[in-house]
Order: sequence, then C-alpha cells, then structure tokens
Amino acid sequence: MTDRSRADWWRDAVTYQIYPRSFADGNGDGMGDLAGVIDRIPYLRDLGVDAVWLSPFYPSALADGGYDVADYRDVDPRIGTLEQFDEMLALLREAGIRVIVDIVPNHSSDQHEWFQEALAAGRGSAARDRYIFREGRGADGELPPNDWPSHFGPTCWTRVADGQWYLHLFAPEQPDFNWDHPEVRADFVRTLRFWGDRGVAGFRVDVAHALVKDLSEPYARLAGYSVEHLPLDGSHPLFDRDEVHDVYAEWRTVFNEYDPPLVAVAESWAPTERRPRYARADGLGQTFNFDLLVAPWKAKAFRTVIEHNLELAAASESSSTWVLSNHDVVRHATRYGLGDEVDLVAWLMSDGTEPVVDAARGLQRARAATMLMLALPGASYLYQGEELGLPEVADLPREALQDPIWLRSGGTEKGRDGCRVPLPWASDEPGFGFGAPVGHLPQPEWFGGFAVDRQLDDPDSTLALYRRLLALRRDLVAGDELTWLRSPAGALRFARAGGWESITNFSNRRCALPAGRVLTSSGPLDGDRLPPDTTAWIIAD
Ligand code: GLC
Repeated sequence: MTDRSRADWWRDAVTYQIYPRSFADGNGDGMGDLAGVIDRIPYLRDLGVDAVWLSPFYPSALADGGYDVADYRDVDPRIGTLEQFDEMLALLREAGIRVIVDIVPNHSSDQHEWFQEALAAGRGSAARDRYIFREGRGADGELPPNDWPSHFGPTCWTRVADGQWYLHLFAPEQPDFNWDHPEVRADFVRTLRFWGDRGVAGFRVDVAHALVKDLSEPYARLAGYSVEHLPLDGSHPLFDRDEVHDVYAEWRTVFNEYDPPLVAVAESWAPTERRPRYARADGLGQTFNFDLLVAPWKAKAFRTVIEHNLELAAASESSSTWVLSNHDVVRHATRYGLGDEVDLVAWLMSDGTEPVVDAARGLQRARAATMLMLALPGASYLYQGEELGLPEVADLPREALQDPIWLRSGGTEKGRDGCRVPLPWASDEPGFGFGAPVGHLPQPEWFGGFAVDRQLDDPDSTLALYRRLLALRRDLVAGDELTWLRSPAGALRFARAGGWESITNFSNRRCALPAGRVLTSSGPLDGDRLPPDTTAWIIAD
C-alpha cells in the first residue's frame, strides 16, 4: 500500500478536476461555487481521490469560462470568498484530499487592472509594455501587424481606440502578457506564494508552452499552431520556446520553499519529444499527456501510447500522467460511442450533422478504458462527472452556448460547452440537485438518469465502479514498474508489482481470462471469458 503522505505523493495520485461553475451550487444563485464544493467533500472522500484540481475560480468576466482572470489573488464573488477558500482547503485536508489550483500565466482578462491601465496609458507607455502592443500595417495602421490567427478566431490581434493592436492567442478578452517584462514575472511569483502560503499543494499551468515569444520583425510565417506543426528545435515564435523553461526554473525555486515542495502540472502542447522538458524536477515537475485521450480504441494503439509515455516519463525522471476527459474535450463515454471513423476534434468543432452515438458501447468502452488507465504506473486525472459515466450533452440549445469558440466562429464551431453542463446529484430535485435554478448550460431531461443518488447503491453503476477502483488502487499500487504479459489477440495485459495484473479486451470476441482471482471488472464477465470492451484486474491466488 502506498504512503499517501510522502512528499512525492503526486507521482501516482488520482486527481479530480472540478470545474467550479458546474460542480455544485451551494448558495442557490445558479452558479457552482466553493460552498458547493464544501458540501460535497464527503462525496469526494468516498470517491477516494487524492487531490482535486480547481479550474479557475478567480474574478472573471467569464469570456472563456474563467480562463480570463481579472485578479489572480482573489475569488470571484459569485463563487465565494477567500475565507471560504481557506475553509474548503482545511476541510479537504481533513478528508485527506489535497488541492491544486489552475494558474493562467499566458494571458489575463481584459478586465485585469494592468490591462485597463495599459489601455488608459496609451502607446509607448510602461503600462502597455506588460502586454504585447504593436502598430498595425497599412497606410493608417488599419491592418493587423501580421496574419497570425488566434485559437478562437481569425486573428490574434485586436485594435484599441488609439489605433494600436494587442496580441491575444485566445479571445480578444484574453490579452497575452509580455513575459520579457520583469514585473510580469515578479507578479506571478507573488501569486504562486499567495496560494502556496494559503496551503494549496500546487498548480495546473494553463498553456504552459506559450508564455515566452519571439516577436521580432519580420514576423515568421507559420505553418500552423497544432503540435504537428511545431519544430523540434524550439524555434516557433509562439510555442515551446526554450526560454519558457527559465520561467519554470524560477518557479521551481519558489515551489521548493515549501515542505513538501509545491507541485505543478503543465498543459503543454509541445511536440512529444520535447514534452519531458516540462516535467523535469528543475521545472514544473509533471506534464499532461493527452495521447490516451486521442488514441483509437485498439490494443496496439493503446500499447504504443503507454510504452512511449512511460519512456518519456523515465527521460524526465517524473511519472507519466494519464487523461481521458477534461473540460476541453468531448466526454469519453460519448467519444467511444462514435464510429471509429469519426474525427472527434472535427465533431467538437462542427455544428453540422451530429454523428450517431452508440451510447451503450461508449459507456462500456469508457469504463474499460478508465480501468486500464487506473492500472497504469503514474498519475491519473479525472474530470468531474466521468465517474457517473456522463455523456456529452451534444444537443444544448444554441442560444445557451457560451464557449468563445462558438461565439467567435459565428456559430459554425460548436465548442466545448457539452462537457461543462452542471452535474446531476439527485434525480428528483430541481436542477437535479446541482442547485436551482441552473444559471448556465441547461441540463437535459435525461441527466437525471445519471444522478449520483441513482448510482450510489447500485453495485453495477459507474460511480460504484470508480469507487471500487480507487479503493483497490490505494491498496494495490506500488512502484512504477509495468511488465507486459502475453495477451490474447486484441487484448492488452500487463502486470504490476505485487502480483496483480490488468487485462483489457479491445476486440469484438470474448477472450480467455488469465488464471487468478478477479478483483473487479468494468462489466459482467462470462464465466472464465472476458467479454469485448471489458477490463478485469486479477491477482494471483
Ligand atoms: C487551456 C484551457 C482552456 C482555455 C485555454 C485558454 O487550453 O484548458 O479551457 O480555453 O487554455 O486559457
């Protein structure tokens, strides 16, 4: 059994992502809040997670669901107060649950006092230099400085009243900081200490690969922004530049002022070969790996992803992370129900014809995939609601959508709201127990069928499965080793230290169950056979 109090607890932790607005509403104003988190601490304890990651809860105009931060050292009044944050932290600590918070260093909100100051101060001012202001092209500077797109729309430049343009890799309400500015660096260090001193265990670092940029002119022509377009030598002007690690080296000295040191996990869309840099012990210490999330449901594909990421983890002397769902992607219970040929990213991004989803198959595969993930060495990140087997809400009313991807594409790209609908806690209560009224992203009628209270006493429910797995994992997991075992065709089988193993049947035929005692399985077994789309954990008799 692993010692959960050790300083490197994060190496094999299970962390549960809370998207605060949609988790639980404690004060009945329609928006999820810290009071709601406090109410649900017994739920999180019984689920058996080691830590929670709170997506942004800071003051924000919510142009990007809170990833537009107006004040890094406060709580949005609609979500709570700093006192409530402290109370939440203390109660979670009593329940044995650590807290990591999201930090968004690439950009602030346009409501941030520094940006407001920059707008007021005018061109050439010191205040403007904390962000990235440039003159436009054309006779009157009426054209943006270059043709770079933003992630959320056609251009990453927006013009202000006096004619200058500022850079935003995301929405116009999210101006990018100038990370060459010492005040920007110093202010983030202050923010790290602010939360570290309050007792958080660490940070999830948003868009960690983008902070430092080379904006020297003439501007580089870009092949694209996605990982496959990034050079391997760090020469892209916007992403994954070597200098970004100087920032994290400084942060590491701050993290190490604490005992145990604070932890951090990078959201870094860097080329795989360069990902270990973000996970080194002299930097952030851990990085997300989204490879499992995009892998097709095939034994070979999963094995390749697992082997590769264990190698990368070893190269960085960190542990690997694993993710199947988060607030930016289609929930995995739905993803696995799409035909194999459906491009999930294209589906998320299109408002066209919805593909047919085989919900039963999706859930069955999702349960098997989660179970496989939780058997792997390393740290797993769960996203709120996946423990209920929640599907994506693909048919949200168009007028309810809030994602800047939807708004800025003029309604041609649907965006990410379908995985951010408030959770169903109680099938017969208003707002399905989330709180009433639900102020954003309406819950569909069928949500009640997935409510926590429907699942708690049902041993076959997805919630019961997650609780079983997390409890077993606490007893079983020891060390980092994984040994591949001879698998039946279309299956993946590996052993972990301590004489237990995991087997997943990816094929559409039953296969033989290995000898030993079945600890649990993601679906019903068929005598001594393992049905398709099912995982079992087995221990030697
Ligand atoms: C990250 C977040 C995403 C957000 C973006 C801009 O990718 O996960 O939700 O929109 O950063 O902050």
